This record gives sequence, C-alpha cells and structure tokens, in this order.
Amino acid sequence: MQQQDKVWIFDTTLRDGEQALKASLTEDDKVQLAHTISRLNVDVMEVGFPVSSPADFRSVQRIATEVKGPIICGLARSVAKDIEACGDALRAAQQSRIHTFIATSPLHLEHKLRMSLDDATAMAVKSIKLARNYTDDVEFSCEDAGRTPHWDLCKIVEQAINAGASTINLPDTVGFVTPDEYAAMIRHLMNNVPNIDKARLSVHCHNDLGLAVANSVAAVQAGARQIECTINGIGERAGNCSLEEVAMIMKMRKDHLNVYTDIKSEEIYRASRQVAKICNMPVQPNKAIVGENAFAHSSGIHQDGVLKAQNTYEIMSPESVGVPSNQLNMTSRSGRHVIEHRLEELGYQKSDYDMDSLYQSFVALADQKGTVYDYDLEAMIYFNQINDKD
Ligand code: KIV
Ligand code: ZN
Repeated sequence: MQQQDKVWIFDTTLRDGEQALKASLTEDDKVQLAHTISRLNVDVMEVGFPVSSPADFRSVQRIATEVKGPIICGLARSVAKDIEACGDALRAAQQSRIHTFIATSPLHLEHKLRMSLDDATAMAVKSIKLARNYTDDVEFSCEDAGRTPHWDLCKIVEQAINAGASTINLPDTVGFVTPDEYAAMIRHLMNNVPNIDKARLSVHCHNDLGLAVANSVAAVQAGARQIECTINGIGERAGNCSLEEVAMIMKMRKDHLNVYTDIKSEEIYRASRQVAKICNMPVQPNKAIVGENAFAHSSGIHQDGVLKAQNTYEIMSPESVGVPSNQLNMTSRSGRHVIEHRLEELGYQKSDYDMDSLYQSFVALADQKGTVYDYDLEAMIYFNQINDKD
C-alpha cells in the first residue's frame, strides 16, 4: 500500500474568520476559542494580525503565552512594522510562525499596490529575512495567487524560499478558480520552481463560488500539504474553506486520497457550537458535518434503513464528529418501524398501544403540524387508551 502523507491543518478562525464578524471578539473570547481550537489538534493556529490594533496585539500575545500545542501564528504584510509587531506579539509562544504576504496578481499590483512584480518580490524577500530574525518558521503568501500568471508565481516563490520561507501559501483570495485550475497551479509550481522541495505548499481558499472545499481537496490531490481553513467556514464575504468538512473528507476518504490529518474529529461539534455562539454566527441547518440536519433522517424509507443498519444512509457516525446521536424526525413520511423504535426508547411496550389506531392518529397529526414530538406520541397513546375503554 502507498504510504499516506500528512496534510497540515492551519486554522485561521481567529484571523480570517474573525475579520468577517460584525462585532470584534473580546480578548477573553479569543483565548477561550484558541483553547477549543487547540483541542482539535490543529497543526497551526493563526490568531490575529498584531499590527492592526493594540487589542489584536494583546490577544495574540495572550494566546502565545497561554495556549500550548499548535504552532501559534500571526499575520503581517510585507513591511517591517508588521513583521516586528508580529514577532513581538508571538515572543512567548512555544512554537511560533510569522505569516507574511503580498499581492502578486496584475490586478492587485497595478491598482492596489501600484508596483511591479519585481518590487513586490523585493519587499517579500526583505520581510521574510526580517521575520527569520524572530522565528525559523516563516510562511509566505502570494495574495490573489488564483489570478496570478503561473510563471509570475514561480519567480516570486523561488525567491521567497531562498530568503527563508518554509511554507508557501497560494490563496484563492477571491474564490474565483475552479478545482482543475487550482490543481494545475499547484502542479505548475511543483514542476517549475527549482527549490520547491524545501517548502510545504499550502492552500487558502475563499468560498465566493462555493468551491473552497473542493478547491482545497483538488490542491491536496495535486500535492499541496497544508490547508488553511476556519471552523464553520466563517471568513471574509462567503467565508473560507471549512475545517470540519476538509478534516472529515480526509478521514472518510483517506484511502482514496492517500492522505491524513491529525485532527481529533470527536472535538468538531463542540468547536463548531462554540464558534457559532461566541461569534454570533448561527450554522445553517443543512451544513455538512455540523448542521442541525447533518445526522437527522426524515424519510420513512431512510429511517427504516438506518434502524436496520446505520450505514445504509449514514456515511459517518454522529459520534465520530462529537454529535451525541443521530435523529429520526417523526413526520408524515415516518413509518411504523420508527414509531415503535421511539416508543421503545421512551419505555413503552407493544402491549401498551394498538399500532393501527396509533398510526392513524399519528399520520393525521403529522399532516397538520409537520413534526410529531415525543409528548404528542405519549398523548396519542393516552387518548387511544381512554377511547378503547369507552
Ligand atoms: O485570502 C487571502 O489572500 C488571505 C491572505 C492574507 C493569506 O487571507
Ligand atoms: Zn483569506
């Protein structure tokens, strides 16, 4: 069997994710979330942009002091004051990373930075060298890599690695590319940058076209070995690649993809709920892995199947992501099997009710109100018993 490669999980909930919130998180909120993220066993945790505000600086500093386990990372533009602030904020970390970036696409170079690719490369090289004075672990990102010509990326990436960057990140900053294009970009760099084997290639996908997870997986299939992502996929605009989805794809399709992550999947649901609550960003019910409906079955055929063998309609167990149990919604589509099962769980025996008359009342009620709850079932049994006596 081919040996499986590890894919690093770089969580940026507290940096790219936090950028998208209507209200900033407090220092205490961020520290609490950082502990939760560390329980997921992520490899790297990007926790802020220290130069951006004194509050951000302080929270990065506190997390660097208090949270053990993952590499603690801060973001910095490719300018000296950012790198210095980042290096200072991270000083107490057991393991720290400085993540510096500059835009490389013609659009950003011309309209935003008003400089040439050579000028941007010179700034990147200088910043990476400066960052290396603070830590051996420096990541460099080509902002808007998705819209940068491949040969331009090759030029700047080669120089960035020579200057001391050990991770090269290629963000699809605006969520524009498709999976085949993203994979082609990764392959182009792997085949054309002479020193590429000295760095880990990383992907950072935004979800503007709903492709962030698919693009990240395609990049891994092409050879990338770090995924940048956030819990519940929160982040700028339509969000970032969602951590729980890529982690479970790597776990459930490990043999197909030939890669694995070190994420403790049982911690996912707890982390998701905490992020939703603290960030005031509810999770949509049909969200993969962590949505309220992710392990809920409504169709009678599915419910019957799941009661006979769980994997008929569940590709992973709820417990594997920390959800206590699956849920069989009782609706007019439910059959007798699921009602009997639920009543057994509630402590009833078959002799306590007449299934034919109960089922008739059940369907009539379900047609009226949609979901039938446990207390409805119990009331129906009670009324049927009284009617039988009369
Ligand atoms: O989306 C992006 O390009 C970023 C960079 C700062 C890495 O978030
Ligand atoms: Zn981003």
